[in-house]
Amino acid sequence: MPATLVLGMQFGDEGKGKVVDFLASKADIVVRFNGGNNAGHTVVVAGKTYKFHLIPSGAVQDKLCCLASGVAVNPKVLLEEIKMLQREGKEVRLIVDARAQIIMPYHILLDGAKEASANKKIGTTKRGIGPCYADRAARTGIRFAEFVDLERFKERLKAVLLFKQKELSAYGINCPSEEEILKEYENACRKLRQYLGDVSLVVRDALKEGRQVLLEGAQGFFLDNDFGTYPYVTSSHPTTGGALTGIGIAHNALDRAIGVAKAYCTRVGSGPFVTELAGELADTIREKGKEYGTTTGRPRRIGWLDLVMLRTASRINGIDELAITKLDVLSGIEKLKICYAYKLDGKELKEVPADTALVERCKPIYKEFEGFELPAELKKLGDLPAQAREYLKFIETELNVPIKIISYGPGRKDTLLID
Ligand code: IMP
Repeated sequence: MPATLVLGMQFGDEGKGKVVDFLASKADIVVRFNGGNNAGHTVVVAGKTYKFHLIPSGAVQDKLCCLASGVAVNPKVLLEEIKMLQREGKEVRLIVDARAQIIMPYHILLDGAKEASANKKIGTTKRGIGPCYADRAARTGIRFAEFVDLERFKERLKAVLLFKQKELSAYGINCPSEEEILKEYENACRKLRQYLGDVSLVVRDALKEGRQVLLEGAQGFFLDNDFGTYPYVTSSHPTTGGALTGIGIAHNALDRAIGVAKAYCTRVGSGPFVTELAGELADTIREKGKEYGTTTGRPRRIGWLDLVMLRTASRINGIDELAITKLDVLSGIEKLKICYAYKLDGKELKEVPADTALVERCKPIYKEFEGFELPAELKKLGDLPAQAREYLKFIETELNVPIKIISYGPGRKDTLLID
């Protein structure tokens, strides 16, 4: 039984947490393969809100949860989430891959220092993500297996701190000493040891035994370190390719890739946003959709749905089906727009240009739609107003990908499955 992959197709915050929670009821294992606590997933079950930054949202359903090799783990945040779940009476079944990178206190300091001194700010979450992945590439990172073995951790820390002290002093910042770091992280080091494992093998064995595996991408495709709007991106790979390398599985382990997109679009942080809206309408959508960052609380930028983005995301990730979320937020807006192409230097483009400087100059070409009022409950597609069906049909036709899930509210029950 191959695995199901869930990816964000926009700039993150597409509502993947809810989709994963919904699909998790049928899964045996939920695996997160990229990013760290820059992500924020909100899951509402029976009126109770759970906010996760690291542990896959499948934890709400007591599923076996894995943090794969591609994840950047802040050990203190992980420990807090484990405790939060235990307080809620959940049985925490967790495996953290030996290869996962550890976010260290100096990564967080460096992230903040770089942002503060940049003339063009990326608008990072300041959680140390970029510096942590940079260390992985530079081979000066500390992996989970090293971290949970106190003697190895001390040894590794000593070696790495030589570089970090120099790096931070360039910003006029003192690097925390070995003793300070050990004091801060020692408790997590001891408590997290029990979760050490090889997620690549766990997933392989589960698939062999015919168990259902759900792979959860954090962030969204246009924040991908290669294919996103570089440099306004994150430092990991929220892509199909990223899932394979971030877990250690082969291409034929995948059964289907579900692309999640909001019925409109949002972005936190800097970078091009072709369909961005300003003014009253943006404010209305932001308030109605509670579009404030789960991690940083920042107000999200708001825009119309952009099918040029979804076309590119769908092509590169091999998206088989779509989950459209937050359709209810558009309910009651008189006229709606969907961008289906860009205009650049007199030419019409159907795919996002590879060069970010060109994306910045693109203008949206819209099709306009009549607004709709959604009923409180949807049991079948036919319960949707005709105008909403037309809006959704246009997405399917333009992308040539079927919509299989429609989410129209934060609760698990506010979800329509389409056969
Ligand atoms: P970083 O991942 O903290 O380095 O931030 C890089 C960019 O990605 C910034 O624009 C962030 O706002 C954005 N970003 C990172 N994680 C998320 C997320 O989970 N949702 C939305 N945006 C994110």
